[in-house]
Amino acid sequence: MNNGVAAFIKDYLGVKSPKTAIILGSGLKDFIDNIEDKKVLKYKSLPEFPESTVEGHNGELIYGMVEGKEVLCINGRVHLYEGNNPRKIAEAIYSLKDLGIEQLIVTNAAGSLNEKIAPGSLMLINDHINFSGRNPLVGPNDAHYGPRFSPMNNAYTPELLEKIKKIAKQEKIDVCEGVYLMVLGPNFETPAEVRMFAKFGADAVGMSTVPEVIVAAHCSLKVLGISVITNYGAGLMSSLPPSHEETLEMANKASANLCHLLTEFIKKEG
Ligand code: HPA
Repeated sequence: MNNGVAAFIKDYLGVKSPKTAIILGSGLKDFIDNIEDKKVLKYKSLPEFPESTVEGHNGELIYGMVEGKEVLCINGRVHLYEGNNPRKIAEAIYSLKDLGIEQLIVTNAAGSLNEKIAPGSLMLINDHINFSGRNPLVGPNDAHYGPRFSPMNNAYTPELLEKIKKIAKQEKIDVCEGVYLMVLGPNFETPAEVRMFAKFGADAVGMSTVPEVIVAAHCSLKVLGISVITNYGAGLMSSLPPSHEETLEMANKASANLCHLLTEFIKKEG
């Protein structure tokens, strides 16, 4: 346990008692405009939150109000393909737990493995497949946070999934639901890999989210996961090869719907 980090964040940002933290994925930072009375802490001052080296991923914690609710926003996550030790991700999530956060919203940009899920769609994640070969819980277990062998049955909290589906319906925002598969990256998949992942039962593929959710499940944080589908996986629907530029552009386009959905969720459940 390392309460020092939480104490530092609390002090620096004047954090009171937010229930919700949000991790913003690639190209999804528009949500920051919805935060009022913002206070910002750059990761540079926080050794436990390693800085991202990827374009489109800033590195800062933003604390403020959305619809009258306190929110802590992680703008710019780190990825394992940058060479980060997965334990760093565990430390960052445990600091959220130490701060009293109860629910974590994780967003990402992902490629579709399913012809029915077109670029521009919002996919609510109902489960994942860890194909990254890495795990942030490897190493000594801190029993203060959770057990050595952590169950993953309801890692994406069914109750939050039901709530967000209801809100999406009320707000007339189209959403679909599916399984997210994480690859280590940084290369995009081959067409053969895309076909294999689809056969595994995955609907979307990306290079993030799974480590954060594994740690969140370990320390009993509720999780809501949302993928913005930015492209079809390589070879699917005879698409052009995916690119980071296309990912950012499509994420920006779909982010209005995502921002609306997140804002309504926080208003009602934050
Ligand atoms: N593959 C992996 N990660 C991604 C993709 C993809 O097609 N699109 C956005 N992130």
